[in-house]
Amino acid sequence: MPVQAITPRNGKKTARARRHPEVFTETSPSRAQARTLTGIFLDTGHLPEIQKYHALGIIRGVTTNPTILAKSGLAVGWSGIEDRCRAIARLIDPLPLSVEVTTNEPDDMLAQARAFITWGRNVNVKIPIHGPQGGTENLRLVHELETRQNIRINVTAMMSAQQCLLAAMAGATYVSIFGGRVNNMGYDSRQEVRRLRELLDGFGSTAKIIVGSTREVLNIVEWFEAGADIVTAVPSLLDGMLVHPYSKETVQMFLDDGAKLQAERPRAAKSASTR
Ligand code: E4P
Repeated sequence: MPVQAITPRNGKKTARARRHPEVFTETSPSRAQARTLTGIFLDTGHLPEIQKYHALGIIRGVTTNPTILAKSGLAVGWSGIEDRCRAIARLIDPLPLSVEVTTNEPDDMLAQARAFITWGRNVNVKIPIHGPQGGTENLRLVHELETRQNIRINVTAMMSAQQCLLAAMAGATYVSIFGGRVNNMGYDSRQEVRRLRELLDGFGSTAKIIVGSTREVLNIVEWFEAGADIVTAVPSLLDGMLVHPYSKETVQMFLDDGAKLQAERPRAAKSASTR
């Protein structure tokens, strides 16, 4: 069962909910609670990278898509996808993992969604807002899976607040807007995220805003400031966020002075003992 579905319906928190307040939220949060930030989702299918950043305690979930998985050296075939996703889900449990459907045929999407959630209780299903020709079928499926089959959905590949609003109305747990691609089209992604935040809060929607397609280190904090609940990031951007040249220089100064102190200390100790 996906993690989000474990959220206690009676308002009482389970022991797991108390240990992971960032993942387990109340079923009917107030607006203030709905705005609680969730954090960074790592955008990769590469297991050693996930292991590394998960061990730092700085990620709150993992997102994948077929392109990401194709780049991460999977074994060929469906079993390659399944094995990798099962391994990721196990590693980060109870943090959520998004696995995207690889088809746009409604029956096949439905079958894949049902299969994905058996790969781990923390797996949620990513479904694009529509197919390459547009259409409404994907949203119908999102509504069906969320409201009738209790499967948590991350609606993906969205480029505007209005698309995300419709996905949230259909019942999506997560709505993913691709901020980097929005910027690449010449629009200001921050403005779109702010607009979406206001709309979802106005409607009292509990859908979590994911901003993905991160291109620059600065995107991460600027999208959180604009109202994202979650920002996805590739590992290199997290490194860029963490390491600062002036911090390096400062720490080098501490180490150099520390070494000088240590070199001087034995002499001082010796003269004290001979007194
Ligand atoms: C997020 O969930 C997506 O998987 C990802 O950020 C898409 O990014 P891209 O624009 O680099 O393909």
